[in-house]
Amino acid sequence: MSNFVELDEFKQQVADVYSHRSNNYDEGDFHPRLAHRLIECVGIYKGQKILDIATGTGLVALEAAQLVGSEGKVVGVDISTGMLDQAKRKIEAAGLSNIELRQADAENLEFDNSFDRVLCCSALPLITNLQATLRLWHRFLKPDGLIGLCVFAETAFITGVVLQKVAQRYGVSLIFNDLTGTEKKCCTLLQQAGFKDIEIKTEQYGSYISLSAAKKSWEGSLKYPLCRPLAQLSIEQLQQAKADYFTQLEALETDKGIWNDITTFFVLGRKKAG
Ligand SMILES: C[S@@+](CC[C@H](N)C(=O)[O-])C[C@H]1O[C@@H](n2cnc3c(N)ncnc32)[C@H](O)[C@@H]1O
Repeated sequence: MSNFVELDEFKQQVADVYSHRSNNYDEGDFHPRLAHRLIECVGIYKGQKILDIATGTGLVALEAAQLVGSEGKVVGVDISTGMLDQAKRKIEAAGLSNIELRQADAENLEFDNSFDRVLCCSALPLITNLQATLRLWHRFLKPDGLIGLCVFAETAFITGVVLQKVAQRYGVSLIFNDLTGTEKKCCTLLQQAGFKDIEIKTEQYGSYISLSAAKKSWEGSLKYPLCRPLAQLSIEQLQQAKADYFTQLEALETDKGIWNDITTFFVLGRKKAG
């Protein structure tokens, strides 16, 4: 694994948060299901060369490596050393020799246009300059190659949706899944980055969660890098915001719990041939 990357304060915080989570990131079936579904949607074949951006613990990369076989190759990049260490451990355990891992910033990559697929699963909200970055990723594809993204609707993750509303009342704007929030927004993003033949598959991964689990998310949210604008609030304002957050969640409770929408878009786009 090649390692050297300079990160700004935000990206260092992202890297640290994910390194901290890396030991239990693969627990449960949510992330593995999305990774598997992205691969199914985009289609991966023997001998192909795949770039998995924000590879994390390598869920996409490992499955892709098995599909491309020994004549193919997968490159996985991420900024979090903890996540990459997990990926490395899994690659060694699986005995795969066709995956290269790099610690690198998704917004500052250098590759030639040799990839059949460029994939990114569940990481786009963490990309600071999304439009420019998608244009950069477009360059790494061979003509006729496909980008495959797994992103979430603006209605997804109820605790985030409620937190955004509460923060707005205090003049704080939190951006989570807003840029990929609807099918139309996803389509426009990809078109503006130069992709053609855009296809979007919309699927629901939501379930009911308990009020207590939803309330517990408050503390975690404060440590999440995308919530750092909340740091501008005073202690009193934060206490008031927390009370508002709890009140709003209580109002959403039904006898089954709180519906946690996870509308997910699998977005594909093609680099024009020739
Ligand atoms: C939610 S995880 C997704 C991991 C993996 N793609 C998956 O589906 O399981 C988000 C990942 O994005 C990585 N990440 C965030 N910003 C990044 C950036 N600028 N460059 C590279 N990786 C980044 C994080 O370190 C983390 O591993």
